[in-house]
Amino acid sequence: MEHLIEMLRAAGDSTRLRLLLLLVEAELTVSELTQIVGQSQPRVSRHLKLLCEAGLIERFKEGTWVFYRAADRGGAASLSRTLATLADAPNHDVLLGDSRQLADARAARSQEAAAYFKINAPNWERARSLHVPEADVESAIVRLLGTGKLDAVVDAGTGTGRILELLAPHIGRGVGVDVSPEMLAIARDRLAKIGATHCQVRLGDVFRLPLTNGAFDAVIFHQVLHYLDDPPAALREALRVLKSGGRILIADFAPHDLEFLRTEHAHRRLGFADREVQGWFQSVGLKPLSVEALAPSGDSQKLTVMVWLAEALDVAQRGKVEAA
Ligand SMILES: C[S@@+](CC[C@H](N)C(=O)[O-])C[C@H]1O[C@@H](n2cnc3c(N)ncnc32)[C@H](O)[C@@H]1O
Repeated sequence: MEHLIEMLRAAGDSTRLRLLLLLVEAELTVSELTQIVGQSQPRVSRHLKLLCEAGLIERFKEGTWVFYRAADRGGAASLSRTLATLADAPNHDVLLGDSRQLADARAARSQEAAAYFKINAPNWERARSLHVPEADVESAIVRLLGTGKLDAVVDAGTGTGRILELLAPHIGRGVGVDVSPEMLAIARDRLAKIGATHCQVRLGDVFRLPLTNGAFDAVIFHQVLHYLDDPPAALREALRVLKSGGRILIADFAPHDLEFLRTEHAHRRLGFADREVQGWFQSVGLKPLSVEALAPSGDSQKLTVMVWLAEALDVAQRGKVEAA
């Protein structure tokens, strides 16, 4: 009872409610929130502190950036979701303004990333040298997915199409989706060269896959989630296109401190801790199957790549997760 009252008090202020509703939509930094709500940074920070103390939002520091996000489990998450439903943003000028600003901020960020990939598309293969040998990552992907059940596969954020090329001999059909036409041009060329007519690529966003519900056996995110402002939303969208029992495979960096990847290479997140990814699985309705850390050998400075595999719960079980 006391905690509920504390949460209601924290949310019972117009600026804090605006901040909370924004953080239900996306993981944001103080400066992004400050720009959106148009108030001073100290004021916004004070409000965020109160929301954190009430358990409605979480704060996490990563390198020189601090992110905030709405709690994704328990009573705090249910309350925030209920408030978001009741807020009726389309008919409320201030909230409508906030969601437009958020959409603009996200669009600006995607444009930055797109500009990066436009310039770097031909060099992307070289960028792989930052982490443990790609051959190790690729053999882990093929081993973990196996060859038995793979009828239809989505490569989310396919880039130059390497993962489709890798999986082509093992799958019935593959669809690569990416927001960068420049990356896709290379991917098309690559797939044509190997005669992979059962694989195709499409321009599209991983948050709104241009694909039908429940049609795929696996969705792969290979070195994609660290560019996104809301990785769990991308997993939720991937889940939409999976059959029951379909699997999601994520290959991404373990936490690191290479800040230049953010400033020079459009990364938003500096890797992910296993605990964070397991939290996403739980909150979206995925059953964790395995996790592997591919660490560099000896005293190499290269980054560790993590490979997570999870399975879609059937629709009835997903409903229970959402209700919890
Ligand atoms: C580092 S590349 C990895 C490409 C590929 N998965 C690979 O491993 O070779 C990241 C890719 O994610 C794409 N990307 C970033 N944000 C995206 C989004 N919201 N929707 C679709 N693709 C996205 C970029 O355009 C880029 O091609």
